[in-house]
Amino acid sequence: MRVPDIKVTPPGPKAREIIERDRASIATTTKTAPIVVKRAHGSIVEDVDGNLLIDFASGISVLNVGHTHPKVVDAISKQASEFTHFAGTDFYYDVQARLAERLGAITPGKHRKKVFFGNSGAEANEAAIKVAKSHKKRHMFLAFLGAFHGRTQGTLSLTASKARQRAGFFPSMPGVVHVPYAYCYRCPYKLTYPSCDLYCANIIEDTYMKTIAPPEDTAGIFVEPVQGEGGYIVPPPGWMDRVARIAKDHDILLIDDEVQSGLGRTGKMWAIEHSKAIPDILTTAKSLGGGLPISATVYPAEMDFPESGKHSNTFGGNPIASAASLATLDVIEDEGLVARSAKLGEHLAKRLDEMKERYEFIGDRRGLGLMQATEFVVDRASKRPDPKRRDRIEKDAYEHGLILLPCGESSIRYIPALNITKEILDAGLDVLEECLRRAAK
Ligand SMILES: Cc1ncc(COP(=O)(O)O)c(C=O)c1O
Repeated sequence: MRVPDIKVTPPGPKAREIIERDRASIATTTKTAPIVVKRAHGSIVEDVDGNLLIDFASGISVLNVGHTHPKVVDAISKQASEFTHFAGTDFYYDVQARLAERLGAITPGKHRKKVFFGNSGAEANEAAIKVAKSHKKRHMFLAFLGAFHGRTQGTLSLTASKARQRAGFFPSMPGVVHVPYAYCYRCPYKLTYPSCDLYCANIIEDTYMKTIAPPEDTAGIFVEPVQGEGGYIVPPPGWMDRVARIAKDHDILLIDDEVQSGLGRTGKMWAIEHSKAIPDILTTAKSLGGGLPISATVYPAEMDFPESGKHSNTFGGNPIASAASLATLDVIEDEGLVARSAKLGEHLAKRLDEMKERYEFIGDRRGLGLMQATEFVVDRASKRPDPKRRDRIEKDAYEHGLILLPCGESSIRYIPALNITKEILDAGLDVLEECLRRAAK
């Protein structure tokens, strides 16, 4: 099979017809590219017009084990033939208990844990807000500029990625204070690592906690160990540990949002494992279900809700999604995908670095494992973001058979499946290279 294989420039006639119907009847969301899928296996997507495209987007970091992995599909079919729903929050079944035990065992920290199951990242973070409030009896949270924790009214108050995500929806949950993230390429304090001595972490304690974020009122610090939607920003060594230390010193919970960065994506099972920090609460979703909607909020058993009925839902830990999750975790383990992400990530980073050498408009390349990004600028001296060029490159890429997703103000993220073959990864990077060459003209 030759990939990519473009027979008609996407969107072809069948795709255009479906897109028109979608626009007429489906809520306006974010829709990045006019690609209409017919079927997808591994890292290859076939669209409704017969084009074969290479997937470097993985359904927004959902398909760490690739599309329709046979073991995940088998687990789904088997569970679907037994029972499809039994409201795991009100009744009991084995597959959900097994998944909770497994998540307890593979998340950082050896303490006994409990798991709340939801259906999305936002729902996992909503549960984290409630666990933290209920346990700490405090109402404030610290979060970071550029953060993305969801779009529900509670999580939106933590999200600070793009103004348009918040515009028109406030007031929302009160008591959230945002602090600049460790964005070294555009240091908000114009300092340089390591001589900065992690000023961006220290300021939480030295300024924020002494002024607008009293620790005695603060339940938790929400943090993405690698900021996702905000631009795939990797903090410098020591930052996460410093933030964790500050949280601990002030008896504030460290809430680790691994919704995008978890399950092997960065070359560790959890991105926070690039540091020594042990989070109090960890949230995971996206790739957990291998393509099915499921999320988990993992926290120490002693933080559990004090009585029945405090928090619940209908579909959380749905048996089919739980079975798919267990199969996904098996695949990650059996295929050694965490180590593979680290190794292939080095190759991906190397090739992106070579492209950065060649093209002045790539200002920065950053990432961990198979969670990589390049940031596009007008020129390297001014570092002025160039979202238009970024958008043109993305369009050119899907027209030539490579599916990409943006992030931040002017970056592209590269998040292929962790089991993508090196050949397909290189074929996708060759398409990207051609797009950059055209963009340079
Ligand atoms: C880090 C992070 N947290 C939370 C969310 C929200 O997840 P969902 O879209 O499943 O609600 C996202 C989604 O992109 C995310 O990247």
